[in-house]
Amino acid sequence: MKKIIDWIDERIPMTATYNKHVGQYPAPKNFNFWYYFGSLAMLVLVNQLLTGVWLTMNYVPTAEGAFASVEYIMRDVEYGWLLRYMHSTGASAFFVVVYLHMFRGMMYGSYQKPRELLWIFGMLIFLILMAEAFMGYLLPWGQMSYWGAQVIISLFGAIPVIGDDLTLWIRGDYVVSGATLNRFFALHVIALPLVLVVLVFLHIIALHEVGSNNPDGIEVKKNKGPDGWPVDAIPFHPYYTVKDIMGVAGFLILFCYVLFFMPEGGGYFLERPNFEAANPLKTPPHIAPVWYFTPFYAILRAIPDKLLGVVGMGAAIGVLFVLPWLDRCKVKSIRYRSVLHKLNLAQFVVCFLVLGYLGAVQATPTLTLLARICTLGYFGFFVLLFVYSKNEKCKPVPERVTG
Ligand code: HEM
Repeated sequence: MKKIIDWIDERIPMTATYNKHVGQYPAPKNFNFWYYFGSLAMLVLVNQLLTGVWLTMNYVPTAEGAFASVEYIMRDVEYGWLLRYMHSTGASAFFVVVYLHMFRGMMYGSYQKPRELLWIFGMLIFLILMAEAFMGYLLPWGQMSYWGAQVIISLFGAIPVIGDDLTLWIRGDYVVSGATLNRFFALHVIALPLVLVVLVFLHIIALHEVGSNNPDGIEVKKNKGPDGWPVDAIPFHPYYTVKDIMGVAGFLILFCYVLFFMPEGGGYFLERPNFEAANPLKTPPHIAPVWYFTPFYAILRAIPDKLLGVVGMGAAIGVLFVLPWLDRCKVKSIRYRSVLHKLNLAQFVVCFLVLGYLGAVQATPTLTLLARICTLGYFGFFVLLFVYSKNEKCKPVPERVTG
């Protein structure tokens, strides 16, 4: 065995790479619950890639065949139902995990210097993930697939001058049609997954270059012992491989529960109109995107002007990209930051969740008002943060990590 390893090591740095990124990677010793979600995101990504490949073996990417091929997978393909539900539940799980992962970053200031690029790679992942999920949702060619795509693509029409041509270019037709389905299939199955995998790779490289942050927001690399090893760090393997397996076990219990007992997630993971084949002549009474898009959809609807709504929705995502430069505080972790910051982050979370609810239900004048207030709360978080973070009164940050 050693001979084989030596032979490989002389040709590619296998052992050195393993040691740098796993065996000898110095991870802060105080990782908590919130640090499960990065490895879980990787697990879900692998699940999506594998189940996706197997679904593709029986899926037909045409307007005539798509819906029936999904029914065929569900009823006739051996374990096809399992593959499909693993993939559709996996999509929702992906967003649950990624939202919690992003929230952890916001709590502990993991986007701050020197992790800005790591955060930007994360945001690019988030953007591509949204495009990937959106295109995937068209593929079963159900009523919500069809009309959801119709609504979202038509938003590009609000862009002045090029809007109409752009929507035509995206759809490849005057309405959502087989041509649209075909190109979405190509992008969903190969182009975007490739980009995602590359971005996740860069995300990890960027993380390991600067080192992990932690719940205390202390740079463990700055405090090294006589042997050159950071005093507050432990090797990733075996300590965090074992901890992450615990996370995987917990996650799988919840995931399997949904998978086997409520795969449609109460109409949130697979929406009811999607059990009916796409019908371009029959608009469903209530069109709503899947739950993970609803906060942004609610912002779109809260703004009366169509173009401004689209700009607002784009800005809601765009502003997260520049978060590292909006937060000017020297202290990273929420543990040592001001009460004002804690309240600001809390109101942001509440607004985001309320927007998520509002985007899923039919708008009424009262709910629209509430959506406007929450939209203000959402953007207010960033404005306030920029204003107070420069001279924020924080608690002293300890020298060493705490429990
Ligand atoms: C496919 C999606 C993603 C995967 C597979 C992934 C994977 C990971 C992994 C394995 C880690 C190290 C373990 C951990 O800290 O939990 C990590 C850290 C991190 N990720 Fe992600 N990530 C994803 C998406 C995102 C997104 C969308 C963002 C934010 C925009 C983000 C921001 C970060 C940050 C800031 C860290 C460092 C956290 C710290 O050290 O405190 N990631 N990611």
